[in-house]
Amino acid sequence: MSEIPVPRFSDDLERVLIDAATIQRRVEEMATQVSADFANTDQLIVVGILKGAFIFLADLCRRLTVPHRVDFIALSSYGRGATASGVVRMVMDLKANIEARHVLIVEDIVDSGYTLDYLLRNLSTRNPAALRSCVLLSKPERRQVEVEIDYLGFEIPDVWVVGYGLDYADTYRTLPYIAELKSGVYEK
Ligand code: PRP
Repeated sequence: MSEIPVPRFSDDLERVLIDAATIQRRVEEMATQVSADFANTDQLIVVGILKGAFIFLADLCRRLTVPHRVDFIALSSYGRGATASGVVRMVMDLKANIEARHVLIVEDIVDSGYTLDYLLRNLSTRNPAALRSCVLLSKPERRQVEVEIDYLGFEIPDVWVVGYGLDYADTYRTLPYIAELKSGVYEK
């Protein structure tokens, strides 16, 4: 088991799944790839999905070498966990008009796929010039709907993960690494 570097949560965490240095190296690689692919556009809009993507987005964007704007969208899904319903609700829409713009969706995790599927469908109706997705984590075992992920950080097993933006009950988001939560925490 990897050492858990934030002691106040050590009773809640099973193990560190992806340490901070490994995350940072992968984010750097992803930013390099995105920068290369969007090298010929000055109209890139990076869209972060709140709340989970805020840390990944901040790190990714600061490594992009292409001009870009940042915008946010907030979505909420009903029936999380084992009973994902597929019903996604928009809580806050983009400020930007994305018509004829190149859009990169930045998401922390794809689980069932419902959230990203909803967003891809929704944003594509606004006629962007290009629409791509950049996702830090994917749990392929949990997929209910197939979604296209253009840039993926890591595939992970079907365990409850927290940190680096991901939460349980809005806690643990600011841990600098991704850790597996002890099942006793969410089964309480
Ligand atoms: C999480 C995560 C993704 C979504 C992925 O968001 O940030 O947006 O679930 O799950 P899916 O593939 O099954 O749709 P959540 O609704 O927990 O909100 P949060 O980002 O505010 O934590």
